[in-house]
This record gives sequence, structure tokens and C-alpha cells, in this order.
Amino acid sequence: MKIFAETDRLILRELMPADANGMFEMNSDPDVHLYLGNRPVKSIEESIAEIEFIRKQYVENGIGRWAVIEKATGNFVGWSGLKLITEITNNHINYYDLGYRFSKLFWGKGYATETAMAALQYGFNKLKLKEIIGIADINNLSSIHVLEKVGLKRISIFNYDGTKHHWMKIEKPA
Ligand SMILES: CC(C)(COP(=O)(O)OP(=O)(O)OC[C@H]1O[C@@H](n2cnc3c(N)ncnc32)[C@H](O)[C@@H]1OP(=O)(O)O)[C@@H](O)C(=O)NCCC(=O)NCCS
Repeated sequence: MKIFAETDRLILRELMPADANGMFEMNSDPDVHLYLGNRPVKSIEESIAEIEFIRKQYVENGIGRWAVIEKATGNFVGWSGLKLITEITNNHINYYDLGYRFSKLFWGKGYATETAMAALQYGFNKLKLKEIIGIADINNLSSIHVLEKVGLKRISIFNYDGTKHHWMKIEKPA
């Protein structure tokens, strides 16, 4: 099992088929989807397919969202990290997006900030990216706050599937 990065409290590793229950618990919660177009999943099969889809990205794109595991307990927290976006979004294509999604039980512990910092380091140092993008619903204040805390700046507001979102960006530090 490949470990991509480690933080003080968390392990960031490849998503595995065995994470399906944890993914389902997270993605079936409407609160988790409040700013994600509100489409909670209904069956474990959807979570199994999502994990397969992300594992395919590791091979095809060399990167995809990582599983976040609590060191102290071994619990599956959710996912975080970078994704290569190959659909046009806000007139951009083939950019690297920083994102995170956790089960509610793990919110408010600073885990998004901790994993976002690790993902940026990996993107700039290992993948040699020049810039990393973040997208968040303008009402998703905690997510916007995390993106700003790790250094992304608000660039513009655009219409994403009918909802206003911030387009945010960080460039590789000189
Ligand atoms: C967004 C999400 C990943 C945040 O995870 P988290 O681990 O709770 O985030 P952190 O604890 O690292 O940081 C949250 C920060 O936002 C702040 N915050 C929380 N609610 C806030 C609010 N309503 N207004 C402003 N700031 C807020 C917290 O105080 C904290 O900042 P601080 O560390 O400076 O005090 C988590 O809530 C989640 O999984 N949400 C559902 C999925 C989602 O929306 N993903 C993002 C899509 S863009």
C-alpha cells in the first residue's frame, strides 16, 4: 500500500477497495454534501466505484485524491489532495485542484489544513507544479478559510453548475 505523505497526526495513502465503508459513511451524509451540489450517495456500490475511479487516476494521471487515516486510531477520515481536472472549468483545463472531504466526526480538528499543506508540498516539490487551484462555494466558509490559510488567494467568482464559487490559486513559491 503506497503512502504518499505523513503529517503529525495523519497518514495520506492511496485509496483502497477496503475504504468503501468509510467512503460510504462520509458520502451518504447530506451535511457533507451541503456545498457540493447536495448529491449524497445511496449505495455502497457507488463508493466502491468511486474508489476504483480514483485508483485509475493514480495510474493515468500520476495523482488523485488520497485516503486520510488517523495515526492514533487507524480510522478512515476521508480524502484530501490533488486531482488533475481534465474538463473545462472557468475557462481552464488540465489544472491541479486541491480538495478535501471528511466524515463529519472529524471536522473542526484542523485536519483539512494539515492535509492541504502536505498536498501543496507534494504538488510543488514532487510533481513540480507551477500552480495549484482551489474551488469552493462562496458560502463554504470553512473550506475557503482553509484554502486561504495554506496560501491560496481568491482570484475570481464564477458560476459552477449554477452556484457561485471562488476560483482560488497558489503559485509555486520562488
Ligand atoms: C471543509 C472541510 C474539509 C473542513 O475540514 P476541517 O478539518 O474541519 O477543517 P480545519 O479544521 O482544518 O479548518 C477549518 C477552519 O475553518 C474555520 N471555520 C469553520 N467554520 C467556519 C465558518 N462558518 N466561517 C469561517 N470559518 C470557519 C475553523 O475555525 C478553522 O479555522 P482555524 O483553524 O483558523 O480556526 C470539512 O468541513 C468537510 O469535509 N466538509 C464537507 C466537504 C466539503 O465541503 N469540502 C470542500 C469542498 S470545496
